[in-house]
Amino acid sequence: MKTARWLEEESRPVTDLALFGALGDLSLRKLYPALYHLEREGLMHDDTRILALARQPLKHEEFCQRVTEALNTYVEPDELEQEVVQRFLARLDYLELDFTHAERYHGIKEWRQLRCSAAQSCPLIVYLAVPASLFGDICRNLQTGECLDEHARVVVEKPIGYDFTSSCEINDAIGNVFPESRIYRIDHYLGKETVQNLIALRFANPLFGTQWNQNHISHVEITVSEQVGIEGRWNYFDHAGQLRDMVQNHLLQLVCLIAMDPPANLDADAIRDEKVKVLKALEPFKEGKLNRDVVRGQYIAGTINGKGVPGYLEEEGANPESETETFVALKTGVANWRWAGVPFYLRTGKRMSEKLSQIVIHFRQQAHYIFDPDQRSLASNKLVIRLQPDEGIALEVLTKDSGLRRGMRLRQGPLHLDFGSAFPQTRIPDAYERLLLEVMKGRQYLFVRRDEVEQAWHWCDSLIAAWKAMGEPPRRYPAGSWGPVASIAMITQDGRSWYEDY
Ligand code: BG6
Repeated sequence: MKTARWLEEESRPVTDLALFGALGDLSLRKLYPALYHLEREGLMHDDTRILALARQPLKHEEFCQRVTEALNTYVEPDELEQEVVQRFLARLDYLELDFTHAERYHGIKEWRQLRCSAAQSCPLIVYLAVPASLFGDICRNLQTGECLDEHARVVVEKPIGYDFTSSCEINDAIGNVFPESRIYRIDHYLGKETVQNLIALRFANPLFGTQWNQNHISHVEITVSEQVGIEGRWNYFDHAGQLRDMVQNHLLQLVCLIAMDPPANLDADAIRDEKVKVLKALEPFKEGKLNRDVVRGQYIAGTINGKGVPGYLEEEGANPESETETFVALKTGVANWRWAGVPFYLRTGKRMSEKLSQIVIHFRQQAHYIFDPDQRSLASNKLVIRLQPDEGIALEVLTKDSGLRRGMRLRQGPLHLDFGSAFPQTRIPDAYERLLLEVMKGRQYLFVRRDEVEQAWHWCDSLIAAWKAMGEPPRRYPAGSWGPVASIAMITQDGRSWYEDY
């Protein structure tokens, strides 16, 4: 029987975290604030330690100063407690390291050996907050430097590759050192509270469970719109585009959670097996229909919140000839028993009118209709799942319009569960808090398995190849709009429209 302390402490296991890329944007913006919140919530074991690794020569105090600045910037002022900050800083050590030099990795091993005896057997979590081109080198160097044991886990971030082939190379490089059961691929959308709520909503409520198929659902829409542009990331973004940046991962993960069959239990592989089945059943794009079913867009200058913003081709460092898309809308489907004939409309873009992530499930109309025929257009229930901002769920239902003069007229209105006001005491944690906690606990259900990544690339690659063959430039849309007009036509030609009222 295993009796190590970290195994007994299921809810607050002791771990060592080695953070590569410790001074990068992701660490400063997301990881330290998330770890700070775990500290504040008392969710990190007292013996958990963090080794921050970066190339820059910094003294311990200088490094702590950088982390403190990050916390001051990215943690809400009313959540920043000096005593917690000090407790958190006390867990941190800094090591200057050139990640490509295997002979320097002994510093990590020594740091591990210096740890207090109680924690010696605790798992090492290696977080690679660095470009994917470094994943292979770092994993190999950790192995040759004897920094790993049979409990070590690795956490990697998207983008895992640029296409199917490059994702296989990256996955092979990591897989040569870590078995799949200890690889945690982050898609931060899976850490969002409302995204996890999809699982609860679908599988804890028989009401929805019995209705969740093509007999009752007419179509599904997913919108992930952002007001931000590319935030100084021209080089990365122009190489990727919105399809690779958002659809290949975040939007397809949402499709999976909506479309998957009930898993046998909440085990990571039970859930991921079902998600892979959905990805395998995604309908391929039909050549002659590409123009009808897919819209690529690129923003031009416009206005957001009353302020003028430049177009994509005028962003800093831009190549004025670029034809990279900053917006995608597409219609697809899941070709299986549950979803046959149900269109899934997806759209996502930068510099759009609002920041909004929302899923709308449109239920079919009543088969036999007894009310005024002119009210038929009202007659469909919708389940609106708002992921951000203002997380919540609304079910659009039809009721009688009140008043003596109204007769049996119908009115559409929401049964509304707004998480913020329904559970005012509960803070909605950032996705990274949940994800870091799950890695510490060694639970993989919120992380993406290799076959999911590869299957998603297969589908995206076929779309990209078809785009290339078509050779059409993206359609322009003004910043601050809902995307190219063609994306509205894409859905209206099916007699439907994007749902915009919450
Ligand atoms: C990232 C993309 O994965 O997700 C960014 O690379 C995008 O381009 C971001 O802005 C959106 O995340 P969120 O949580 O703000 O919706």
